[in-house]
Amino acid sequence: MDVVVVADAEAVGRRAAAMVLDGLRGDPSLVLGVATGSSPVSTYRALAEARRRGTDFSQVRCVALDEYVGIPEADPRSYHAFVRREIAEPLGVRADHLLVPDGNAPDPEAACASFEVALHDWGGVGIQLLGIGRNGHVGFNEPGSALDSRTRRSALSETTRADNARFFPRPEDVPAYCLTQGVGTIAEARSIVLVASGPHKAAAVAAAVQGPVTEACPASFLQRHPDATMVLDPEAAAELAGQPTSESSRAR
Ligand code: GLP
Repeated sequence: MDVVVVADAEAVGRRAAAMVLDGLRGDPSLVLGVATGSSPVSTYRALAEARRRGTDFSQVRCVALDEYVGIPEADPRSYHAFVRREIAEPLGVRADHLLVPDGNAPDPEAACASFEVALHDWGGVGIQLLGIGRNGHVGFNEPGSALDSRTRRSALSETTRADNARFFPRPEDVPAYCLTQGVGTIAEARSIVLVASGPHKAAAVAAAVQGPVTEACPASFLQRHPDATMVLDPEAAAELAGQPTSESSRAR
């Protein structure tokens, strides 16, 4: 895995966006895996800036990692709404080029199976953008998720529910369940770019990069991925042993 440390969260976004734009130059109908949360927002902003300078996203298809169970798609807190607001609208990605797990499906198991089929029909993810939870989760794969897991209904951990409580009026309003791509599903992306910034991510980043590959830290699967890059600000990189002082370094 490559680890790149840049000046700050905005620079994280610019660097990750540059990697997406590189991929897009080689494949205008890139299948871009998109993460929600605060971390990739600077990346989406940088991509929107590229669009203003003329980059065409009209053939790009976007696949989301996860969705809450029981939040209507039109609710601004749903990940459907996040993908439309932060990604599809600013980049000009067509509505029929979006694939997000259906957290309101009456049969979640069937919804997860059809999500996997649709993703397969699109040829899989070319570049996957990822964030990381404080507990090392990716998508909503909480610690304990099997490294070969597939898209499924899952429970959110108390850490994750507490972290996401800022988006809801009361802590008890945070959904308890989600649909999420599995770690095994995410690992099939041909290229993965994980972005993280801030001191609250430092321990999870160190565990993912330098700890054992283990279900206890789902993001540690990146160590086995043939084309994975972490783009970090100095605070998120702070607990890496032999922390790079230059802008870029190879972790393994
Ligand atoms: C959420 C999302 C993840 C995201 C993570 C970190 O729970 N399901 O995909 O990476 O939390 O969020 P943030 O970037 O806001 O810290």
